[in-house]
Amino acid sequence: MPLLLYLTDERFSLYLDLTGEPLNRRGYRVEAAAAPLNENLAAGLLKLAGWTPGTPLYDPMMGGGTILLEAGLMALNIAPGLKRHFAFEHFKNFDRIEWQRLRKDAEGARRDPEPLPIFGSDIDPLMVRAAGLNLKAAGLLDCVRIMEADFLNVNPPTPGGIIVTNPPYGVRPSTDDMPTFYREIGDNLKQHFPGWTAFMISADPEFPKLIGLSSNRRTPLFNGPLECRFFEYRLVAGGNRKPGK
Ligand SMILES: C[S@@+](CC[C@H](N)C(=O)[O-])C[C@H]1O[C@@H](n2cnc3c(N)ncnc32)[C@H](O)[C@@H]1O
Repeated sequence: MPLLLYLTDERFSLYLDLTGEPLNRRGYRVEAAAAPLNENLAAGLLKLAGWTPGTPLYDPMMGGGTILLEAGLMALNIAPGLKRHFAFEHFKNFDRIEWQRLRKDAEGARRDPEPLPIFGSDIDPLMVRAAGLNLKAAGLLDCVRIMEADFLNVNPPTPGGIIVTNPPYGVRPSTDDMPTFYREIGDNLKQHFPGWTAFMISADPEFPKLIGLSSNRRTPLFNGPLECRFFEYRLVAGGNRKPGK
């Protein structure tokens, strides 16, 4: 049974670990991406965006596909802990029968896999492979459509819907020119995604200025220790460019 002991000069604290692996680990991440979002943050972003299953969802910079995976689990009513083990299962007084009943209920509530209006793409073929392996591990490979594509050259997968994504942060590998890239993302959204609402999380304080679109909402969030903002842009043909941009 995992016990944690913290000692300082004057006191000690003893913790009983009920979960073992942190709760955000769902058991589907078999291939890591370069800068993956925490699974619980990805699920929270979908809730903050007001996304509900049935609304088309697109992550055009999907990395290992965390946002798509969390959406797929929600859409098929798959309990996020269903594939994992918890430390409390080793407790002496653990009620195995009750736990099995709860698991059986959750299994019974899960919907059969079906094609969902959930789409993802990434410019990096290794990330497309990683997302595919993770979706397969979660039993979602036939439900979510993914492809290799540069977001700056891609057509919307449906006439309208919600984008939830976290663009790269820091240095862009090919050109080192992140300001231009953010500006191009803004231009692309403006030109090709009217009717969509785009939600983007960024820790870059320059991001809102560089993207050059007027946000409808910005929510402060933490990605681990990193302070971020979650921006909402409702894209209307001809209407989002900031004055003077
Ligand atoms: C911060 S990561 C996304 C991580 C993802 N949310 C996850 O949880 O794994 C940003 C991603 O943007 C991708 N990317 C960078 N430039 C791109 C472009 N022009 N078009 C599409 N994807 C791009 C990178 O390959 C990277 O996988």
